[in-house]
Amino acid sequence: MGNTLRCANRHSFDIARQGYVSLLRAATAFTGDTPAMVEARAAFLGAGHYAPIERALATVQPGPGCVVDVGAGIGHYLARVLDARPDRVGIALDAAKPALRRAAKHARVGAVLADAWQPLPIRTGSVGLALNVFAPRNPAELHRVLHPEGRLVVVAPTGHHLAALVSTVDMVTVAADKREQVAARLAPGFEPETEVVCEFELVLSHRDAAALVGMGPTAFHADADTIAARVAVLPEPVAVTASVIVSSFRPVPSPPADR
Ligand SMILES: C[S@@+](CC[C@H](N)C(=O)[O-])C[C@H]1O[C@@H](n2cnc3c(N)ncnc32)[C@H](O)[C@@H]1O
Repeated sequence: MGNTLRCANRHSFDIARQGYVSLLRAATAFTGDTPAMVEARAAFLGAGHYAPIERALATVQPGPGCVVDVGAGIGHYLARVLDARPDRVGIALDAAKPALRRAAKHARVGAVLADAWQPLPIRTGSVGLALNVFAPRNPAELHRVLHPEGRLVVVAPTGHHLAALVSTVDMVTVAADKREQVAARLAPGFEPETEVVCEFELVLSHRDAAALVGMGPTAFHADADTIAARVAVLPEPVAVTASVIVSSFRPVPSPPADR
């Protein structure tokens, strides 16, 4: 049916007018990024400021299967990866409806409202490439959904990501996931394959700097006017260093279950 998905057990799930489908297992009060954060993310990423991260992701060779982005936001990186892989389809999974409305605009993306901490509504072994960019990751579920020859690629900030803004604007940071922490949390289901430190300078207007702050967790605690007032004390343009690690992992076969 055009506006409904049905599973093998004859459950049906309506596709929202805006193109996403809710596969949430249980009602949850957590609704992910706010509409204002999503607007800020679309403005900032749409201006190409994080293009080096897009390029790093687009070069990863997927294994057999689809591309899934867990905590996809507006699906910006997923769209770039799919643009580089015309033979693939993708799933943008997020807890935020306003983000998924944007992600659903790509012709080869299925946008799914789901909780990354719950069992993922994705078939076992069906994913050739899982993306996880500044977003929550559930190692056991990522391992389950990945094809044995699939790859998981994690983008996580280093300890000095956006340092100039963090100190002056009182920015809440996404936990600086240094490489050992990411690898330790993913073990024993994954082994590291490649790792690229992606570091680049941003030269930002106050408007762009406010969008950058406004798309992150600071915006859960400060409204747009507060963020703008904090940014106003910075020089304009302001130079900021983005510093992330792009790590690729391969799934380690699961040990045989105990008899
Ligand atoms: C920092 S944003 C990153 C978005 C996107 N990966 C990007 O870099 O543009 C984190 C994203 O994770 C989503 N998110 C947070 N907790 C989640 C959860 N438990 N399940 C699904 N999505 C979640 C938020 O709604 C948000 O879109």
